[in-house]
Amino acid sequence: MTTVVASDTVHLRSWRADDIDKLGRAVSGISQNALARRFGVPCSTIPDWYPAGIAEGWARSTWNAYVAESRGRIVGWAEYGLNSDPHHADLAALVCDRYQGNGLGTRLVKEVASLAQAATVRVLHAQIQVGNQAARKALYAALPDLRYTGLQDGQWHYVMHLPETSS
Ligand SMILES: CC(C)(COP(=O)(O)OP(=O)(O)OC[C@H]1O[C@@H](n2cnc3c(N)ncnc32)[C@H](O)[C@@H]1OP(=O)(O)O)[C@@H](O)C(=O)NCCC(=O)NCCS
Repeated sequence: MTTVVASDTVHLRSWRADDIDKLGRAVSGISQNALARRFGVPCSTIPDWYPAGIAEGWARSTWNAYVAESRGRIVGWAEYGLNSDPHHADLAALVCDRYQGNGLGTRLVKEVASLAQAATVRVLHAQIQVGNQAARKALYAALPDLRYTGLQDGQWHYVMHLPETSS
């Protein structure tokens, strides 16, 4: 699966274990504003706890992601992490600034929702900061059955029920 952004060809694929080492390079293409929207607090780089959490979740099969890659560099990813109830997961996404607005966020969210559905997930949850229209639109474009459940702590909350996949 590919898309073209400016002169770059971007490939979408599932997360691989060694992607964790590529996040450091990805961060140079992410503004502080985008990082703050993703992690909910002002930050100048990816917080220390984040890669550690991915490594643990990946090892336990409680975390997975879909990645957009260009020239060996990660330019966006959408992820889910299981809650204590393995039928529920939290969804999040981040696309490097120069790649935003080209449909990548929507496609990544759609793909990671399929990954979650193929695993144990029956309900996806998403929280985004009030006013984050790009994230709101990407969520609705990817998940048309998304339901807004309310405003809490400065965040819009959403849920999406995933039908069981037939095996
Ligand atoms: C949210 C995010 C992942 C969306 O990625 P993206 O690649 O720009 O998304 P898309 O190109 O698929 O655009 C989705 C929709 O948002 C719209 N959009 C994009 N940027 C926008 C902006 N700055 N303001 C308003 N709408 C915007 C697009 O036009 C599109 O709407 P449409 O379907 O009506 O055409 C990206 O903006 C991002 O990484 N933001 C910072 C981190 C973040 O907010 N994460 C979400 C919370 S976890």
